[in-house]
Amino acid sequence: MSKKLLLKDAHVEGIRYFETYRKQGGYGAAEKAFKMTPEEILEEVKVSGLRGRGGAGFPTGMKWSFLAKPEGVPRHLVVNADESEPGTFKDRYLMEYLPHLLIEGMLISSFVLGSNVSYIYIRGEYSWIPDILEEAIEEAKAAGFLGKNILGTGFDCEIYVQRGGGAYICGEETALLESLEGKRGNPRLKPPFPAVKGLWERPTVVNNVESIAAIVPIIDITGAEYAKIGVGRSTGTKLISACGNINKPGVYEIDMTITVEEFIYSDEYCGGIPNGKKLKACIPGGSSVPIVPANLLLKTVNGEPRYMNYESLADGGFATGTMMGSGGFIVLDEDQCIVEHTMTLARFYHHESCGQCTPCREGTGWMHKILKKIEKGEGKMEDIDLLWDVQRKIEGNTICPLGDAAAWPVAAAIRHFRDEFEWHIKNPELSQTQNYGLAHY
Ligand code: NAI
Ligand code: SF4
Repeated sequence: MSKKLLLKDAHVEGIRYFETYRKQGGYGAAEKAFKMTPEEILEEVKVSGLRGRGGAGFPTGMKWSFLAKPEGVPRHLVVNADESEPGTFKDRYLMEYLPHLLIEGMLISSFVLGSNVSYIYIRGEYSWIPDILEEAIEEAKAAGFLGKNILGTGFDCEIYVQRGGGAYICGEETALLESLEGKRGNPRLKPPFPAVKGLWERPTVVNNVESIAAIVPIIDITGAEYAKIGVGRSTGTKLISACGNINKPGVYEIDMTITVEEFIYSDEYCGGIPNGKKLKACIPGGSSVPIVPANLLLKTVNGEPRYMNYESLADGGFATGTMMGSGGFIVLDEDQCIVEHTMTLARFYHHESCGQCTPCREGTGWMHKILKKIEKGEGKMEDIDLLWDVQRKIEGNTICPLGDAAAWPVAAAIRHFRDEFEWHIKNPELSQTQNYGLAHY
C-alpha cells in the first residue's frame, strides 16, 4: 500500500475546519518551520527533491532559489489553483477537503520567500471552493497563523483568493499573472520568468496547489525522509486523478514506485476496466501529454514494466519531457474511437487558444476542421498528411505551451493509431453511424 502524506487525514470528519485539522497535528509543521531560518527551510525543500506538481515537474527548491530579491521590492507567492487540464481534478479535492493543508503550506512557503501578501488564483468553475478557502483563511487568522506578527516572529502574511473567469489559458503562469493584475489573460514571453518579473513586475513564485501542500509533510518528516519515498528523481508521493473507462474513478495518492499495470488493475486504485474490456490507450498526465497505446503503456520498449513516475513515463521514444504531467490519468478501453477523441481535444484547444500567435490561433482551428471531416467519413487520405503538417507547424512556434499541447495529441494519435484514421476515410458510410472501436470489437 502506498504511503499517504497529503491525504492521510482526508477521511477524518470535519478535517476541513481548523479545530479538527489542529487536533490531527495541523500547523505543527508551521510551528516547526518558524523555529528555522528561511534558508534552512529552503534547504529541506531542495533535499526533498520535490518537483512541481502542476505539470512541468520543475524542481521546487530550485525555482524558489531563483527568486530575485532586489532591495525594497515586495515579493509574492501565487498559488496556481486554475486546474483546468482535462482529466485533472486532484487540486479540487485538496482544496475542498483539506483547505488548511494548503494554507499551512502557503504560510511556510511565504515565510521562506518573504511574501507578505500571497494569492490563490482559482478557476472560475470551482465556484463553491473559494468560500471554503476563505473560511479556512479566517480561521487561521483568528488562531494567529495568518495576519500580523505570526507566532510572535514579526512575520506578517495575508492570503487572498482570486476567482478566475473560466479560461483554460489563465492556468499558464504568466497569463494567470496578467489576469490577477486585472487584464486579459494573455501569456507573456519568457524569459523573464516570474521569479524575476512576475506580479506587477515584482519577483513572484507561482506554484501549483499540490506542490505547496507537499511543503507541510516535507517539514514534518524532513526533506531527507521525503526523498527516501519514491524512486530516482521522482521523490515523495503524487496525487493522481483517474478517470475514463475504469471501475473506480477518483483521486489517489501514490508513491511512484508502482507500475502502470498495478495502478489500472489493482483494487487499491482504478480497479480494472468495466465489463472485462481490453485497455486500448491512456493519457497518463492530462490532455497536454500525448496519448500512449496499451503496449507501450504497460511495458517499455525494452520489455521492462512501466512505472508511474517521471522517469519511466518519459522514455520509450513517444514523448518529450515528462508524461506525468498534471496527474490526470485518462483510460480508454477498446470501444473508444481515437479519431473522435482527438477531435474533441482539438475542439477544446481551438476554443481555449488566446489567439496571440498565428500558428496556435489558426492551426488549432484547422486541426479541428480536418479531424471533424475525417471523423464524419468525409476525409481523404491526404488529409492525414495535412493534419500532420499543421501540427508540425505549431509545435515550438508559439509564445506558450498551449500550442505544443494542442499539437502533441494529434501527432501521437496519427503515429500510433493511423489505421483508425484510414478506416474512417475508407468507410464513409460506416463511420457516420459507428466509431472505429465499436466496429472492430
Ligand atoms: P515550464 O517548463 O515553462 O516552467 C516550469 C516552471 O519553472 C515555471 O514556473 C517557470 O517559471 C519555472 N522556470 C523554468 N525555468 C526557469 C528559470 N530559468 N528561471 C526561473 N524559473 C524557471 O512549464 P509551464 O509552462 O509552467 O507548465 C507546462 C505544463 O503545465 C505542461 O507540461 C502541462 O503538463 C501542465 N499543465 C497543467 C495544467 C493543470 O491544470 N494543472 C493545465 C495545462 C498545462
Ligand atoms: Fe495564446 Fe496559443 Fe500563443 Fe499560447 S500558444 S499565447 S494560447 S495563441
